[in-house]
Amino acid sequence: MKFPADFVWGAATAAFQIEGSTTMDGRSDSVWDAFCRVDGAVRGGDTGDPGADHYRLMADDVALMASMGLQAYRFSVAWPRVRPDGGAVNQAGLDFYNRLVDTLLDNGITPWLTLYHWDLPQKLEELGGWTNRDTASRFADFTSSVTGRLGDKVTNWITLNEPWCASFLSYAAGIHAPGRTDPAAAVAAAHHLLLAHGYSMAAIREIPNVHAGITLNLFPVKANDPDNPWDADAARRIDGLQNRIFLEPVLEGRYPEDVVTDLEPHMTGLVRPGDLEAISAPIDFMGVNYYRDYVVAGGDKPEFPSPWVNAENVEFVVRDLPQTDSGWDINPDGLTDLLVSLHRTYPDLPLYVTENGAAFPDLTTDDQDRVSFLDSHLRAAHAAIEQGSDLRGYFCWSLLDNFEWAEGYAKRFGLVHVDFETQIRTLKSSAHWYCKVIRDNGLND
Ligand code: NOJ
Repeated sequence: MKFPADFVWGAATAAFQIEGSTTMDGRSDSVWDAFCRVDGAVRGGDTGDPGADHYRLMADDVALMASMGLQAYRFSVAWPRVRPDGGAVNQAGLDFYNRLVDTLLDNGITPWLTLYHWDLPQKLEELGGWTNRDTASRFADFTSSVTGRLGDKVTNWITLNEPWCASFLSYAAGIHAPGRTDPAAAVAAAHHLLLAHGYSMAAIREIPNVHAGITLNLFPVKANDPDNPWDADAARRIDGLQNRIFLEPVLEGRYPEDVVTDLEPHMTGLVRPGDLEAISAPIDFMGVNYYRDYVVAGGDKPEFPSPWVNAENVEFVVRDLPQTDSGWDINPDGLTDLLVSLHRTYPDLPLYVTENGAAFPDLTTDDQDRVSFLDSHLRAAHAAIEQGSDLRGYFCWSLLDNFEWAEGYAKRFGLVHVDFETQIRTLKSSAHWYCKVIRDNGLND
């Protein structure tokens, strides 16, 4: 089972999840540093330190990637290192990413740079964070600082990672930093994140020959009984708030009407003339993060606070499927459905899976459960390509075990095991398996 000849094979990480060294070289607090200090917010009271100590072990980690044969590495740049407190540029912060990019290039690994993976400077949160329209402009400034320094070396740019999490999980459900539980704030955050994406695209386009896009966490949503109007409406709402609210502004220059209606009065006055033009600036690809799908039914089980600010009466149907250590259903077919349906709706849009992976308990480094998860999802991706989907690459989440947000270090997603006491890295069976997939550019039938 071969993938296309120029298919890109990579692995992904994010700054706050692996770097540690949260006070080094002028870095300021991000919303996650502040959130980690809130009692009960993060499991076990874990924080961004030590992370996987990648800030100090970067060169070793790149050597490890090279030994694995990775062709591409997706990482994120920490805004609070580059513009501490959201203010002036800190060259020491940029120096780190400059060294990282140089080391990757020296090792023949293509950098894929994500600008925002959730580490908003805490000072900007104190000014309203993503509920404040001005944060989108601050993000454009941050983008220009990074493109100014790295634009001649980095070709692949991703503006935002999973704006759904940075808005609805962060400002409505309160599960992620900054931990707010205000539906209106979440809707404003979603719009301002999209605006930030648009402004950032404009800044990125100032560099010649870039390849730029956005990463969304898209979840295929099905109605439990499509003939039951309550179930069908539940599916429409969840698909609306998870997928279409981000896809349509970016790719079609408009918000889905039904979602706007569901969200009133929160959308009123939010969208200003010119916003949708900025948000829908052409992108070169869509980054897709796929972890699971959903089956929903109309129900009366409101769970508050909830990210589903447009849907109080939705039941997430429990299926008889195996689950990961995060409690997420394992359904590789959802990835095929997602990639095929994206291609049908947006036929000219190249796609990359910018994250896919799973947490498992990893009692030993012989993680056969992860091997079978990844194997089945790659087969699902291949099936989508066979059905015409323009999938051009795959990034496994994650290179290293790391800080899994509100779950702290308890959930391990790495191909590489990290002992957080000693920072010793050990390749798991999944890493050895993935090296072979990359070498063969495919899987055995
Ligand atoms: C998506 C996020 O981008 C990443 O940061 C997170 O660790 C994985 N999902 C797993 O939950």
